[in-house]
Amino acid sequence: MREERLTVSKIRSGTVIDHIPAGKALQVLKILGITGSEGYRTAVLMNVESRKLGRKDIVKIEHKKLGGDETNLVALIAPTATINIVEDYEIVEKRRVRLPERIRRLIRCPNPTCITRSSREDLVSSFKLVSRDPVVLQCEYCGTMIRGEELEALLIR
Ligand code: CTP
Ligand code: ZN
Repeated sequence: MREERLTVSKIRSGTVIDHIPAGKALQVLKILGITGSEGYRTAVLMNVESRKLGRKDIVKIEHKKLGGDETNLVALIAPTATINIVEDYEIVEKRRVRLPERIRRLIRCPNPTCITRSSREDLVSSFKLVSRDPVVLQCEYCGTMIRGEELEALLIR
């Protein structure tokens, strides 16, 4: 029996973020700060068949080559993701995402009395990675711990 599939063409150059957990593609774009208004031709595939994951999402961004630091943030949302850098239709680099040891700016501390939440202080948030699996981060200012599941609600962009 022929399997049904949604075909999206290969890209000539850019980045393919593959093996994103099903339903998380939009959050991946959000964490990368890609809104659509930058003008990159972008394909978002959601809930497509995957041998490894059952269902998965894929994001293809033409002409944008994501650097290492940038893509590691994807691990906050999609630890299973693979980053494929494409040139002349060929994959020239394939890497897994890995959470950085320290994450600045991107996450709002959930503690309302944390100094990083004060409008009078010009401080950016800073979280230290205390555990990768499960993901646990700790605010470097007030010590508040946050778990992976809480992250989505705390993302700043
Ligand atoms: N891809 C693309 N344009 C290209 C080359 C690849 O859009 N010019 C996409 C493929 O459609 C696929 C992803 O990039 O979604 C990874 O391609 P490839 O490594 O060929 O696939 P797999 O071997 O299945 O990847 P993996 O081993 O990571 O599962
Ligand atoms: Zn804090």
